[in-house]
Order: sequence, then C-alpha cells, then structure tokens
Amino acid sequence: MLVLGIETSCDETAAAVVAEGRHILSSVVSTQFELHAQYGGVVPEIAARRHLENILPVIRAALDQAGVTLQDLDGLAVTQGPGLIGALVIGMAVGKALAYTMAKPLAGVHHLKAHIASIFLTATRPEFPFVALVVSGGHTNLYHVRSFLDMDLISRSRDDAAGEAFDKVAKLMGLGYPGGVVIEALAARGNPEAYPLPRPRIAEEPLTFSFSGLKTAVAYLLKKQPEILQENGSRADLAASFQEAVVESLVSRAWLALEAVSCRQLLVAGGVAANSRLRGALADQARATGTALFLPPLSLCTDNAAMVAALGYYLLKSGERLDLSADVFSRG
Ligand code: KG4
Ligand code: ZN
Repeated sequence: MLVLGIETSCDETAAAVVAEGRHILSSVVSTQFELHAQYGGVVPEIAARRHLENILPVIRAALDQAGVTLQDLDGLAVTQGPGLIGALVIGMAVGKALAYTMAKPLAGVHHLKAHIASIFLTATRPEFPFVALVVSGGHTNLYHVRSFLDMDLISRSRDDAAGEAFDKVAKLMGLGYPGGVVIEALAARGNPEAYPLPRPRIAEEPLTFSFSGLKTAVAYLLKKQPEILQENGSRADLAASFQEAVVESLVSRAWLALEAVSCRQLLVAGGVAANSRLRGALADQARATGTALFLPPLSLCTDNAAMVAALGYYLLKSGERLDLSADVFSRG
C-alpha cells in the first residue's frame, strides 16, 4: 500500500511516499528557516505564503523521486493539526483536492502522533504499549501509546514547549533561529554547571513540564550580567547550563511517566530529540534503569512527511477516513 504524506503544519513544506507504512520511497522537505531567521521566529503569514508556492513542486518531487504517479497511490495522508492554521490549510486543501479528484482515500493525521509513528520507519521498533515523549517547537507531551489508534496524553507543558524555550533563549542570547541547533553547537564548548538555573517543578503535578520560568531566569541573568554575552567562554557556559536544565527536566519526567504506567520502553521524538546532549542523557538513564530506548534518526526527528504517511497508512488500514468537510485544528 502506497501512501503520499503531506506536511505543512509549521515552517517546513514536506511530501513523502511511503510503502506499507515502513519503507520510505521518497521524503522531500523544503525548509523555510532562512526566510524566518531575520524575524527570530516563524511568521505565520510568510509561512503560509511560502507553503502555497512550494507545495505542488514538493509533491511533484516526492512522486518523481519515488518513481510513482498519483494513480499508483493507494491513499493520501495530510497533517490536520496541531499547528499554524494558515499553514495547515494549504496542505489540507491540496490533500483534499488530490484525494477527491483521484478518488483516493484520505487520512487526517495528528502531527504529534505522526512524530511518534516516525519510529516505525526504522528497523528498531518498540512493542505496544510504550511511553512516548514528543518534544517539538510547539509541544512537550508525554503519551502512553497502546496502538496507532490509541495514544493517551499523560502530561504536557503548562507553558512553553521545550523547543520554544530553546528558540526564545537563543533569541535572548542573540544567536538566531532556529535556536536548538545553535544552542547545541555553542553548548558543546561550555560548562553545564557554570550558571545555576532553575528546574521548574509543580509540586502537585510532578509529570507536568514548565519551561517559561527557565527562560525568565536566563532573561534576568542577562539583564544583571550582560557581559556574559561579550565573551565566548561565558556564552558557551550559559548555553550549556540552559541546555542541561532542559535535558534534566525532560529526562526526569519521562522516567516518572514510565514508572506511572509501569512501562520499560521509551520513545523520544520531535525536533528537540535531535539534540545530542538529550540523546546522550537518555541513553545513560536507559542503561542505568534497564529501559529500552527508541530514538528516530535525526532526519526523522525534525518535521517531515514520511512520518505523516506512516501514521496515515495505519489509519487508512483501519478504515479511518477524513471527511472532506473536516477542518484543520491549531491546538491538540
Ligand atoms: O518537530 P519540529 O521540527 O517542529 C515542530 O513540530 O515544532 O521541532 C522544531 C523545534 C524547534 O524549536 C527547534 O529549535 C528544535 O526543535 N530543535 C532542537 C534541535 N534541533 C531542532 N532543539 C534542541 N537541539 C537540537 N539539535
Ligand atoms: Zn513537529
């Protein structure tokens, strides 16, 4: 079964052709980050306009690289949400139009659950049930995953997402966008214990994430000691100290969640899962606790359409169809 996936939830226009939910025949990602870098973050109107320009060439490239035509497809899958509304509607309109004109079934895919499905495109897959931590630019969510159709939200961030914290702190430090990659590079040369930063905790909700206090702490520190940014060593130390605080928050809650549902398999996905310090800390903790850890390769951590096609395959196979009158959603 061949599925075309379409992804336009944020600032990547992506299309992919996946066979049987596991073999990637093509995966084309057209990133817009250079377009948004000058603004220090994604500008929704600009993202939407660029998706509109990119979407058909990107789909064409995905079909060409896979060596298939629209007629060869068995179905389509499109990201329905959560994401930027103006961006989502572009992918949705194209997905619906193609499905309708080609008389092919269409699946509406939840972007965060697609991040979870990305692991099924690799050779090492978890068994159901498992715990999944999705760490992206907009979300920090822990799920108890019982099947492709049954993913229960265990907890989320009460304020900023982990990726958002990286992006905002990078902006405070004048490092540009997207923040995660630049902070990771700078942090590699820094001392993670140089600046004591808070690990925000909510006493009555130990599984809930919170990152806005950490961002505020960095802002106060820079207001009090602006000279930190003048010197390469102290800049790297601050980046490393911030990254360590995020990593500790993520790792500690992931293991609390594993205990809460008595599970020994953890999947971590989403853009922030590309962070090598996070991957290292997760691997250490997994080794120490006898937990099976599943991390998609970097190309599948950040936004792509192969993961959309993968989850779409399982939805279509179980008979799920998106009604052509269904709308996109921004939160979820
Ligand atoms: O999943 P994703 O590509 O898009 C969303 O669905 O949001 O995640 C993007 C986020 C951005 O906030 C970016 O700063 C972060 O992932 N990110 C990273 C790294 N690469 C991307 N954060 C930390 N370290 C990285 N290496
Ligand atoms: Zn994402």
